[in-house]
Amino acid sequence: MAAETAGATRDAIVHWLYRYILKPILFLFDPEFIHDRMTGVGKLLGRYSLLRWKTSKVFGFQHPMLNTTVAGMTFSNPVGLSAGFDKEGQLISILPAVGFGFMEIGSVTGSPSVGNEKPRLWRLQKSQGLVVHYGLNSSGSANVAARLHGKKTDVPMFISIAKANHPDFDREEAGIADYVRAANNFRDIGQARVINISCPNTTGGEPFIDPARLDRLLGALTEMIHTVPTFIKLPADCTVEELDGIIVVAQRHYITGYICTNLTKRRDNGHVHDHEVPVDGGLSGKIVQDSSNETLKHVYKITGGKSVLIGVGGIFTAADAYKKIRAGASLVALITGMIFEGPQVIGEINRGLVWLLKQDGFSNISEAVGADTRKTALR
Ligand SMILES: Cc1cc2nc3c(=O)[nH]c(=O)nc-3n(C[C@H](O)[C@H](O)[C@H](O)COP(=O)(O)O)c2cc1C
Repeated sequence: MAAETAGATRDAIVHWLYRYILKPILFLFDPEFIHDRMTGVGKLLGRYSLLRWKTSKVFGFQHPMLNTTVAGMTFSNPVGLSAGFDKEGQLISILPAVGFGFMEIGSVTGSPSVGNEKPRLWRLQKSQGLVVHYGLNSSGSANVAARLHGKKTDVPMFISIAKANHPDFDREEAGIADYVRAANNFRDIGQARVINISCPNTTGGEPFIDPARLDRLLGALTEMIHTVPTFIKLPADCTVEELDGIIVVAQRHYITGYICTNLTKRRDNGHVHDHEVPVDGGLSGKIVQDSSNETLKHVYKITGGKSVLIGVGGIFTAADAYKKIRAGASLVALITGMIFEGPQVIGEINRGLVWLLKQDGFSNISEAVGADTRKTALR
């Protein structure tokens, strides 16, 4: 009990420092510039075991109720870092010390891809979201794979793959070949894969949400799908019919599960409260929360709870994460909540999850997965 109180006090202090001192300074500068500086700090902290240990003392939180096994992988907690924060796999040593239960590296494109022109990242402070128009900037799968090869990580590492964002890869065969290039380069690296078919910021749009094209893509990735747990990252703006089309094909190819969801393009969903919003780019944070929750619920329902779901989009608190878990997510992941609330939010969410599980009489996080949907089904 004393350790509990000490941990909660520590989180409250770090939260205060972030909110009232660090964040006001960081938010004065261009978001991509700050992201690059933070990556530099993270790389430095990850390099030395003493700094990693110190970081885990400031941010870490462990509890047996959060230990879970999903798709054959073991997780010390269900809260991961979503794709896009560590595109190049430079933070894999420090992310577990910050408290993440898993991390998704990338998206990494098969061939190098410069992405869109800067500026390409904006904060929407009133809406508590970001506008992301990176357009899959990546040094390419050969380069990232060389960096990660042989590295052991303290938590499961998912690698998100995509095709390079360049007109040369807009032709279907070239696009598929680039995904395959990434799959081959990452053979034997990390514990899981994510096929990103839902980047909203690329020249060729999202061709692989079309079932026939997706079928050919997954056919070309059969070897990867059969050797490592493989997830599909779903868009936030699909109709129910489009989602059903994707799932039917994906199930035929034995996809392990789905990440619900990527960014939303919709600026008219009632969650954008800032006056000036860039025209291009996908929206994250609170703006995508409802769409991703609706997608998650639908996918849980149509897969009968048999696929593994990872809930992403607008997680700022334990209650946000728990809602996704009760709706059917075995794991959750975030980026924007950490940027707005501070890195201690991972520990705060995990601590809050334990409290919420106890309130509901569960003894482990796995018991809460899909609880709301099961309850509705029984009515
Ligand atoms: C800066 C940034 C870059 C992103 N890049 C990627 C990416 O490369 N691949 C991907 O699948 N999702 C990417 N995303 C989407 C996130 O993984 C996530 O699905 C989305 O931001 C919703 O989660 P959040 O509200 O917790 O940020 C990116 C998001 C942000 C904020």
